[in-house]
Amino acid sequence: MKKTCPSRRGFLQQSLTTAGVLSAGLSVPSLSVSRAANVSGSDVIKIALIGTGGRGLGSVIDRFAVGDNVKLVAVADVAESIARKAVAQLQKNDNVKSKVDVPPERIFGGFDSYKNAVAEADVIHIASPPAFHPVHYLYAVEQGKHVFIEKPFGVDAEGYRRSLKANKIAEEKGLTVCAGFQRRHEQKYLDWISKIQDGFVGDVLETRVYWNTAAAKVRGVRNEGESEISFQVRDWYFFNWLSGDHLVEQHCHNIDVGNWIHGKGDPSAHPVIARGLGGRQFRKIPNVPYNECGNLFDHHYVEYEYADGTVMHSQSRQIPRCWNLVSEKVLGSAGRGQIGWLEPKGAERWHLPKYKNDNGYVQEHVHQTEAIRSGTKLHDGWFAATSTMIGIMGVLATYSGKEIKWDDAVAKGKTFFPYDKELTFDTPSPVMPDADGNYEHTVAVPGLFEPFDK
Ligand SMILES: NC(=O)c1ccc[n+]([C@@H]2O[C@H](COP(=O)([O-])OP(=O)(O)OC[C@H]3O[C@@H](n4cnc5c(N)ncnc54)[C@H](O)[C@@H]3O)[C@@H](O)[C@H]2O)c1
Repeated sequence: MKKTCPSRRGFLQQSLTTAGVLSAGLSVPSLSVSRAANVSGSDVIKIALIGTGGRGLGSVIDRFAVGDNVKLVAVADVAESIARKAVAQLQKNDNVKSKVDVPPERIFGGFDSYKNAVAEADVIHIASPPAFHPVHYLYAVEQGKHVFIEKPFGVDAEGYRRSLKANKIAEEKGLTVCAGFQRRHEQKYLDWISKIQDGFVGDVLETRVYWNTAAAKVRGVRNEGESEISFQVRDWYFFNWLSGDHLVEQHCHNIDVGNWIHGKGDPSAHPVIARGLGGRQFRKIPNVPYNECGNLFDHHYVEYEYADGTVMHSQSRQIPRCWNLVSEKVLGSAGRGQIGWLEPKGAERWHLPKYKNDNGYVQEHVHQTEAIRSGTKLHDGWFAATSTMIGIMGVLATYSGKEIKWDDAVAKGKTFFPYDKELTFDTPSPVMPDADGNYEHTVAVPGLFEPFDK
């Protein structure tokens, strides 16, 4: 599906006049932003991709949908073979191959490969595993590049703090930051939330957010002689030091929507305390699918309380044959709703209209490309970092079984990722299996898990 980028005027009008956009918290363009990465109206925008897996390739194809004058010029992946295959796949695709200009010398492999890719482009797509996002993000903005960065913005408090630093640099340099929280770029969410924030169901008392699905599939089978870290980075989703657990990795989308509602347009608004329950029941049963490795919980529940006493209830479960829902609900003093509809007390249910061209995966690139071309502001980094940190705070609560205050979580939340080490394929992994190759002993136990760094 080919989409054209709206005219600058069209985007500004859409951004500034869509009812409630300001209160809904979308990054709003301003007209006087200096551009650090030099791209103007008709220039070809050069893209580099870091992390050439499923979403990385998807993000490039979605970027291409904004129209012409966009080219992929470099790719980097920890595994060079994956990067080569990704480029070959794009070059075989008749719909996009004219926009792929990646000769072999601009295909980079290794843990440091991101630096080479960043040097080649104006806009950096970051779709590596979550733990690397703050590192890659910070480097890209230090080099003066615009970024599209997949969610979440890290897996621990240190990652959050680094993302805030990167946010500030981007702000100071006038760089655009687009985050893979695609709901923020979908008109249906913008309209639903602006109606809530206009008081259609009264004052918000409570939100309920869900990501309950069957278990995610284990991706990696250990190769003969493969180092531990190589295996885990391939199977990153199932190790908390790389993914942050599924509460952070996936459920952050719904948490972001809940917090968007409670925050009333403030991208730094957050709950002040989290209380949670969680564990691992299905994943530890031997010889059933999906439980072969890793150290994630398979269910979390968190009650997030805001300073005004309102609450966001969050459920994230990955167990087959259970009740499933991926959605967001709201309860107000004068009504209730779920994404798609709102029902004021005593009145008829109001439904969102059907939207055309409201694919958030594409719209995020439409909005960023237009902001870059017109030199206007788009900075998703603030709400994206906040929502990531809310997920991290929730994991600290479910892992430990303790009440977790926001300020403590931010200041001293447990560090999972080894930021102080130069990673190579021979570096010992922060999570090591027992003699039988199991990781069960590394799974958090509520009551015993220590949520804070000393
Ligand atoms: N917005 C969404 O709806 C959505 C959907 C899916 C995935 N995602 C996000 O996209 C990111 C990637 O997910 P995916 O599904 O594409 O995973 P994937 O495993 O398919 O791809 C990740 C790629 O990153 C590479 N990689 C690992 N470590 C690296 C490093 N240090 N430097 C460079 N490359 C590295 C891997 O080799 C792999 O090719 C994740 O953050 C995920 O949360 C977002």
